[in-house]
Amino acid sequence: MNLSNVSRKKAFLGNITTSVRNEVWKLCRNDKTILDVCCGNGLFFLNFQELVRSNDSSGSNSVSHYPQKEQTFGNVARDTSPLPLQEDDGRDGKRVLIGIDRSDELLKEAKRIFQDNTIGGVELLRCNAFQLPFKSNAFDRVVCVNTLLNLPSLDAIETLILELMRVCKAGGKLVIDIRNRRNPYIRWRYRLLAKKEKFPIKAYKVEELEDIFHRHGFSCTKIVPIGCPLKFCAKAFLIEASSSNL
Ligand SMILES: C[S@@+](CC[C@H](N)C(=O)[O-])C[C@H]1O[C@@H](n2cnc3c(N)ncnc32)[C@H](O)[C@@H]1O
Repeated sequence: MNLSNVSRKKAFLGNITTSVRNEVWKLCRNDKTILDVCCGNGLFFLNFQELVRSNDSSGSNSVSHYPQKEQTFGNVARDTSPLPLQEDDGRDGKRVLIGIDRSDELLKEAKRIFQDNTIGGVELLRCNAFQLPFKSNAFDRVVCVNTLLNLPSLDAIETLILELMRVCKAGGKLVIDIRNRRNPYIRWRYRLLAKKEKFPIKAYKVEELEDIFHRHGFSCTKIVPIGCPLKFCAKAFLIEASSSNL
C-alpha cells in the first residue's frame, strides 16, 4: 500500500484511527451501496482495494462539488439529489462507493492516494455532512468514523446521526465510533489535547450514544470494542445501528 501522499500521518495513520477503519470494513465488506461521511483523505476505501480494482480497472475517481457554493446548503440541495441511487439509476447492481467531506484539500488528497494505489470507481463529493445531498433510504451502509470526537457536543452528534439515518435504507446499517471516556488514559489524553488544539476533541460513554439511538427508535445491533475487549480499557467503540422496527 502506497501511503506517501497521506498528510498529517500522526492523525490519519494513528493506531486507533487505523483500527477503527479496519474494523468497520469487516462489518461492511459485503454491502452494495456504501456512503462514507466525513471520509477525509479516503483511507477507508483502501480496504476495498482488490475489489475496487477488479470492478473498475479504468481507475477513474471523480471529485464533484455539490452544491457549488456552501451557502446554498439547505432543503434545495437535499431534494435535488445528483445521486439518487435507485434500482433503475443505471448502476446495474454494481457496487457503489461514495465518500463525502467538506474539505476540498482532503478530497484532492484522496484522489492522489487512490491513484497511487490504482483504486478506481470511488465517487468523492464535497458537501456538508449535516445536509447530505442524497434522497432518504439510499444506502445499505452509512459509515462515519474518526469524526464524532471532533464535534462540539452530544447535541451536534444527535443531529448528525439523524441525517445519517435518513439516508440509510430501512434495514440498512449505520456505523459510527466514539473514543471511550471510561478509559482513564483516553479521558486524560483527550482533555490535554483539547486544551492544545483549536477544535474540540471529546470522548464519550457508549451509553450516551445508545441513548441517542434508542430515543429515536433505532436499535444498536453491534458494539465493537477497539484495542481491548474490556469496557474500561477499550480505546474506542464502534456502534452499529439500524431501524429497530424491522
Ligand atoms: C478526523 S477526520 C476523519 C477522516 C476519516 N473518516 C478517517 O477515518 O480517516 C474528520 C473529517 O471530518 C470532516 N468534516 C468535519 N465536519 C464536517 C462537515 N460538517 N461536513 C463534512 N465533512 C466534515 C473533516 O473535513 C475531516 O476530513
